[in-house]
Amino acid sequence: MIRMNENYLKLQASYLFSEIAKRVNTFQAQNPDKKIIRMGIGDVTRALPNACIEAFHKAIDEMAVNATFRGYGPEQGYAFLREKVAEHDYQARGAEISPDEIFISDGAKCDTGNFQELFALDTRIAVPDPVYPVYVDTNVMAGRTSSWKDGRYEGFVYLESTEANDYVPALPTEKVDVIYLCFPNNPTGRTITKAQLRPWVDYARENKALILYDAAYVEFIRDDSLPQSIYEIEGAQDVAVEFRSFSKTAGFTGTRCAYTVVPKRCKIYDASHNAHSLHAFWDRRQSTKFNGVSYPVQRAAEAVYTSAGKQQVRELSDYYLKNAALIRETIAKIGFPCVGGDHAPYVWVKTNMDSWQFFDLLLERAGVVCTPGAGFGKCGEGYIRFSAFNSYENVATALQRIAESLKTL
Ligand SMILES: Cc1ncc(COP(=O)(O)O)c(C=O)c1O
Repeated sequence: MIRMNENYLKLQASYLFSEIAKRVNTFQAQNPDKKIIRMGIGDVTRALPNACIEAFHKAIDEMAVNATFRGYGPEQGYAFLREKVAEHDYQARGAEISPDEIFISDGAKCDTGNFQELFALDTRIAVPDPVYPVYVDTNVMAGRTSSWKDGRYEGFVYLESTEANDYVPALPTEKVDVIYLCFPNNPTGRTITKAQLRPWVDYARENKALILYDAAYVEFIRDDSLPQSIYEIEGAQDVAVEFRSFSKTAGFTGTRCAYTVVPKRCKIYDASHNAHSLHAFWDRRQSTKFNGVSYPVQRAAEAVYTSAGKQQVRELSDYYLKNAALIRETIAKIGFPCVGGDHAPYVWVKTNMDSWQFFDLLLERAGVVCTPGAGFGKCGEGYIRFSAFNSYENVATALQRIAESLKTL
């Protein structure tokens, strides 16, 4: 008899997007002529930058000729890409990260999900609330929590992002070993300053803890004083792993390329308190379970770092940021407090009512789909998330409809 991993029974059904789809389908069936505008899901809508497409084509042509054909590549990624990442994304901003500390992968989702495999089962984990659900569910699957109670899993320490703390959580009051942080944040769109990030690094150093820093939305930061990487904070190389992705940066959600930085200075401890190299274990894990990202995809990602690529990537994020600014301004004008949208593609809106109720209201009155905040955690109740990933025309139409339909609220 095949016994199951019963931790999977603790998982709450992936209710959010299926429930959204169900409600949208019902509405569409009842209103077949209504053009629904989707501002819920965080998937990009614009084509890959031309520089990436050219590099992609060229690499595919190389695969067509025996002399330049490539088979299995290095599990950690090709040196050409690791070198560009280290130079442009880190060294250029004063963060001392070397190419062999970069692990190329097919997504920040897999990396943020897989990384917890390196930790003991009784590791105390702190997760944000609201949260990108991958951090939570992968630790539940591994068995680091007990059951679901009152909208939360017992066993996690929840780092609450609320209006009271301006959506940047306070340090945990109890001792934790691993801390997930995400800035610019999904779903709140909030960024963090260096002064706000420094205490987290200090906490991790004092407590031999590790920060898993998800910077998937870094490309949207426009204020140069904000940290783009946790390694801009002194001492973070000892206590932080950073995840980044080409998904939102360069439109790679369907192409798949990302990377994780594991500094060689980071340590992990055995039960006798002996220190081991975290880098060595992630390297071991990846070499055993992962066979690398395809050569043409890595060449396409490399093109992001050419001058044409940099400009095109900037144009892409500018496009979405223009949408985000319009969302924020319009929604605030209607009278709902918002955060995010200035250095992030998400706008987090305080609805002053149940988030599913507000979702239904927008759908029924305006034919617009948002994401109910309650789907991201207990602190998301009373909020909704708008995504700026859409055409400007759709966003403008959606906002007109919203303004019109909420007049009588
Ligand atoms: C915070 C955050 N991290 C990671 C990811 C996943 O990125 P990738 O497409 O590289 O798997 C997402 C995607 O929505 C995200 O919101």
